[in-house]
Formats: sequence, structure tokens, C-alpha cells
Amino acid sequence: MTVDSLGDVSVSTSYGRPERGGSPSPSTSNATTPSDFPPLHLPPKPKIFHGREAVVQQLKTTLLQDEGTRIAILGTGGIGKTTMATIMLHDPDIEAKFGMRRIFLRCEAMTSADGIVSGLAAALNVATDGNSDLIHSVVQYLRKTESPVLFVLDNFETPWDSPEQDAVEETLGHLDTVENLSFVVTMRGTKRPGCVKWSQPALTSLEPVDLLAARTIYLEDGGRDGDGLDKLLEALDGLPLAIVLLAYHGQTHSPAELAVAYEAERTDLLNRGRRTRLTSVEVSISFTLNCQTMRDQPDAQAVLRLLSLLPDGVDDAELPDVFPNLSHRRRALCTLHDVALLSRSGSRYKVFAPIRECILFIQEPAGPFLMDMRNYYYRI
Ligand SMILES: Nc1ncnc2c1ncn2[C@@H]1O[C@H](COP(=O)(O)OP(=O)(O)OP(=O)(O)O)[C@@H](O)[C@H]1O
Ligand SMILES: [Mg+2]
Repeated sequence: MTVDSLGDVSVSTSYGRPERGGSPSPSTSNATTPSDFPPLHLPPKPKIFHGREAVVQQLKTTLLQDEGTRIAILGTGGIGKTTMATIMLHDPDIEAKFGMRRIFLRCEAMTSADGIVSGLAAALNVATDGNSDLIHSVVQYLRKTESPVLFVLDNFETPWDSPEQDAVEETLGHLDTVENLSFVVTMRGTKRPGCVKWSQPALTSLEPVDLLAARTIYLEDGGRDGDGLDKLLEALDGLPLAIVLLAYHGQTHSPAELAVAYEAERTDLLNRGRRTRLTSVEVSISFTLNCQTMRDQPDAQAVLRLLSLLPDGVDDAELPDVFPNLSHRRRALCTLHDVALLSRSGSRYKVFAPIRECILFIQEPAGPFLMDMRNYYYRI
């Protein structure tokens, strides 16, 4: 059966919760289904995109070769997860496989499992007959389409990193039972949600872009070339959001002028216009600072402020000496790594430079843990 042969649509705003534990069976739901798949409604294809060739290749290969692919694009805020997913949605080979059945769902305002389910249902124009949970109707509808469907669930960290985590994972678990459905979640962090059999080899967290890509992005985004550009870009640690924002100011200022300004007023240059997560590194980071995982581990904020004083970061083995009086130091470090505020290279953890600047701008570290840290570094 194709989507064209499905029955009439009836749209309802009511939705229910999935039954805990079980996966919906096609026979338990009488959802009505639309006669056509909903019209394609994708974000525009990013015109400027560099430095991700290997990731694009891996994503494409996985999405094209398998049915029912499950991929998480992970990484810190502003590293380019949404951009990556959007590039993928517009790829001609992906378009050839999934056709009209490519759906992009923003989850940044969804704070519950019900919110996701209603978002999925709305995106598919699926309603329930009142006797079935909406998630069952969604699953039944997806199965009936038979052809491959691709969902991108963008900024999935909002519903997942919340008190509803179990219910949110259960919803993903229901989607995981649909064989003709592929889904890509983009999420801040370094860990994938449970209840899903993620496709292997799993994608590793997005890394910063290299200097060559940073330079190309900066120039294509309108920044002027000039002496000292590479040094300026090196100070951004390859974070695309910071590169794009600095390029905005670089339209009217040379790299040399920006270098002087960046020295004096760092975070000001990592903002532009109205302050949103896409126009301000500080606003972008504040979303992660306020997520549930961070709130559950209050020491993590203190450790982050302290590590922001260390451009070279800290080695795992140094932790007991650097923070001798912090009882949950390793847990705090793990938390920061889980939410991708810390990058890890071998046994060394560090905070990306633009994030460091913003953290220090928001609140300078102080108190006894700072004294301990200073004492350690004075001694060595
Ligand atoms: N590979 C890239 N080449 C050029 N520009 C990029 C690239 N990746 C990201 N950008 C730009 O960087 C900014 C942030 O990207 P994006 O929104 O994709 O990050 P994100 O990881 O999804 O952020 P968030 O965690 O807030 O959702 C955007 O302006 C985007 O255009
Ligand atoms: Mg995003």
C-alpha cells in the first residue's frame, strides 16, 4: 500500500499517553489516516556549509543503506547539529529515497512526552478516534505508509533532559518499532537516549571545524580577510556559531580591529541583533546551563566556572589535587561532559574558548575551591 491509497483524514487536537512498557500493535488502533502525506515543510537548505565531509558521508551511507535507521547527532550548543541534519534532508540521494516523506520537527519548545506525540501527530495530520492513544495512531499511520519515512527531531534535548525523560524515551521506543521509519535526533550532549537500538557505527559527537573550514565559513559569511584572521579564528576553537557571529562584525571591521576589540569585550562580539540561541553564544549556552542534568548536579556549575580559567583544561589524574575539597568532582566533570560543555581529548577535559569567555562573563569564579585550584597551580 502507498500513502496515496490511504483513507480520509480527520484532525483532532486530543492526544493520549503511550501505554508504559508495550509497543503499539497495529490492530489496537483505529486511527484515521490522511489521503496524502502532509506537504513537505523543511527548513531551507543552508547555503554555507563546510568542514563536515566525513560526517555527511557517514550519515548518508547509514540512511541510504538501511531501513529504519536511528541516528543521534550530538554535540555542544552551536556546533552545527541542526545545520548538519538540514543538509542531510536536502541531499538529492536522501530526497530520492524518502521523497515527500521527510519531516522536520522542532522540539525546542516541547517539555513533555505528550508534547512530542502531539507534535508528531500534527506533523503527520494524524488524529485518533478517541479510543486509542495518539502514539498508537501515529505508529499505525507510519506503518501503513510502508514506504520509507524520515523524521528529524531537532533539539531533542529539551524534552529528553527534563523530568519526563522516561516517558520521552518510551515515545522514542514506540517509534523504534516502526521498520520503515528512519529518525535522526539532534541533541545537545554526548549521550544518546535509551529505549532505541541506535544504528551502528554510531555517529560520534560533532567536533569543532578545522581552521581551513573556519576561515571559509568566516569569509563566506561576509567577514573581511586580512592580517591576523587565522589567529582570530583560532581563538574561537572551531565553534561554528561563534565563527558566524564574529563574521557578522567582520563585515565592517578588519581582523586586526576585531582582535583588539575581542581582547577588550570578548562576549560582545559573540552576539548580534536580538539575543536568541542563534545570535548569541551566551544565550545559547544558558539553555544548557539551565537543563535538568545541570540542575541535578549543582557542583557542575562551580567546576565549570573554575575550568573556564584554564585554557588548557585539566587532566583526569590532576582532579584530586586541583579540587581537593570538592567531594563530587568526578561526577561534576562527567555531568559537564554529558551536556557537552566540556570537550575531552584522551584524559584531558577542557571548555571551548567561546564558552569559557561567556561563563566567566556571566559569573567569575570565587570561594574556597578557587583558592584550592590557585594553590595547586602555584605549587607546580
Ligand atoms: N558546517 C557549517 N558550515 C557553516 N556554518 C555552519 C556549519 N555548522 C553550523 N553553522 C552555522 O553555525 C550556527 C549554529 O549552527 P546550528 O544551529 O546548526 O548549531 P546547533 O548545534 O544545532 O545549535 P543548538 O545546540 O543551539 O541547537 C548557524 O548559524 C549555522 O549556520
Ligand atoms: Mg540546533
